[in-house]
Amino acid sequence: MSNDVCLGSELPAWPQYGDEEREGLIRALDQGQWWRIGGGEVDAFEAEFAAAHGSEHALAVTNGTHALELALEVLGIGAGTEVIVPAFTFISSSQAAQRLGAVAVPVDVDPDTYCIDPSAVEAAIGPRTRAIMPVHMAGQMCDMDALGKLSADSGVPLIQDAAHAHGAQWRGKKVGELGSVAAFSFQNGKLMTAGEGGAVLFPDAEMYERGFVRHSCGRPPTDRGYFHRTSGSNFRLNEFSASVLRAQLGRLEDQITTREQRWPVLSRLLAEIPGVVPQSCDDRGDRNPHY
Ligand SMILES: Cc1ncc(COP(=O)(O)O)c(C=O)c1O
Repeated sequence: MSNDVCLGSELPAWPQYGDEEREGLIRALDQGQWWRIGGGEVDAFEAEFAAAHGSEHALAVTNGTHALELALEVLGIGAGTEVIVPAFTFISSSQAAQRLGAVAVPVDVDPDTYCIDPSAVEAAIGPRTRAIMPVHMAGQMCDMDALGKLSADSGVPLIQDAAHAHGAQWRGKKVGELGSVAAFSFQNGKLMTAGEGGAVLFPDAEMYERGFVRHSCGRPPTDRGYFHRTSGSNFRLNEFSASVLRAQLGRLEDQITTREQRWPVLSRLLAEIPGVVPQSCDDRGDRNPHY
């Protein structure tokens, strides 16, 4: 199907699914264990999702909002701290900080890419700043060179809101290879979905373990004796969702390739409409999944 034919026809249904999702659901059902403790689907999904994003430490969670909350908690965000967020994003980016008692400090985005403006971030860093949250808007990765340098110079960690950025790359590096925590959403409209769901990529095992304990009511993975080691909540993903997400991950690369091919056509046609200025792409974001 040519790009023009595709653009002239009806929009495809979303989500897309097939026998892989059906088989996954039956596989999860037949395990007879439907939560992650005792099942195999969440563990397998975490390993596959981590590998696909250049990381070794993926933690699956209930949704993208909880992924952000958990990631911020692991970074030590709480009352008396500030988190710099883009002024243009979904509300969860700032709500996650607020739920932990922190203040979300909104700063401007670049008018071309709609991504957080590093110079605005720099101006907003103050004595209470404990995290900077770039949101890779609609799959366009933020300027990770400038933000990485700011983070290194200031000592303030980055937490990537990658809710739109499954499979994205910045100068050949995958989201999990950039050295910072990243949070994903698998809500119904996202590039891969189980209706709801989320994941956090951690840059090291120690952070992953802290995240795991907190996402499971304070219990370590091997605990069977109700040893609640710390505070936490229940952000565990279930086995059915993980089985669907494994199938969805299998579709992602081909879907991104299709969108990369069609995006220039859609963008050109949108630009012909008076008053419409399509989002531009920074070429250093060399794999854009185009959410
Ligand atoms: C940029 C961004 N961050 C976070 C989220 C929250 O994800 P969820 O809906 O899975 O809680 C979304 C979801 O729409 C989003 O677009």
